[in-house]
Amino acid sequence: MLLISLSLLLMASAIPRILGFSSDLTHSDKYQWIAPNVTDVRSPCPGLNTLANHGFLPRNGKNITIPMVLGAALDGFNFHPETILLAAKLALLTGDDHTTFNLDRLALHNVIEADASLSRNDAAIGDNLHFNETTFSTLANANPGVDYYNITSAVQVQQDRLADSIANNPNVTNTLKEFSFRSGASALYLSAMGDPVTGVAPKNFVQIFFREERMPIAEGWKRSTTPTTGETLASIQGAIMAASKWTPTQACEPIVLGPGIVL
Ligand code: HEM
Repeated sequence: MLLISLSLLLMASAIPRILGFSSDLTHSDKYQWIAPNVTDVRSPCPGLNTLANHGFLPRNGKNITIPMVLGAALDGFNFHPETILLAAKLALLTGDDHTTFNLDRLALHNVIEADASLSRNDAAIGDNLHFNETTFSTLANANPGVDYYNITSAVQVQQDRLADSIANNPNVTNTLKEFSFRSGASALYLSAMGDPVTGVAPKNFVQIFFREERMPIAEGWKRSTTPTTGETLASIQGAIMAASKWTPTQACEPIVLGPGIVL
């Protein structure tokens, strides 16, 4: 009897995952925000760091598998797996293990980590791993006069951040890959902190997400009941790219296939 009840319970907890809409776990004690300790590692990505700070990913930031990332993004942000699968696969290139990666290794330049980030320095001229308030001030001060960020402000922020990198980083990498990834990252913060369909996100939620790598639950944020899907994310990313009047700085980039493997 106990076995039957247990298996029913396990099945019940698996059902939402199978159907693709897990229930909102973000308010449970198990997933409360705890700052990383000195031996925990974190990444250049505020999304993954937030998931680790809330315990959706291992709090030590180590030995993370692709299924763990996909499950954490679904449980924490209601992101469907296809929205981050490519990034999760690329993450394995940043380390030596076949099936796991550590968050800090994601700073390996030009695998996913790119120049002209929203909240980190360029690798060639500074610390590309940790949050930097000066870099983030472009986004923090965007869209003056209203209390939300949107696709239009994201375009402006990306243009300003890229102009700054081109002016100050003689080694800036700015090909279609980085432009596409940067636009994807903008779509990710708008979707995680705001409405994944319209791409409108309250400023205070976005600022807490970047500065504290925390879900702003106490401030009123809720995990969106509308999932972020491949379609919604591509729609916002595509709108950002279309409005960006972007030009490449170079046609090709160094191809980084792993630590010390650069073609
Ligand atoms: C779970 C949902 C995710 C969200 C909400 C998210 C959000 C973001 C945002 C907003 C940035 C831009 C940071 C900046 O420019 O300062 C970013 C960057 C980054 N993300 Fe994520 N991300 C997610 C998933 C992932 C996954 C699955 C990976 C790989 C395993 C990843 C790896 C990275 C890396 C390496 C960067 C640095 C890129 C750069 O240099 O600009 N992210 N992410």
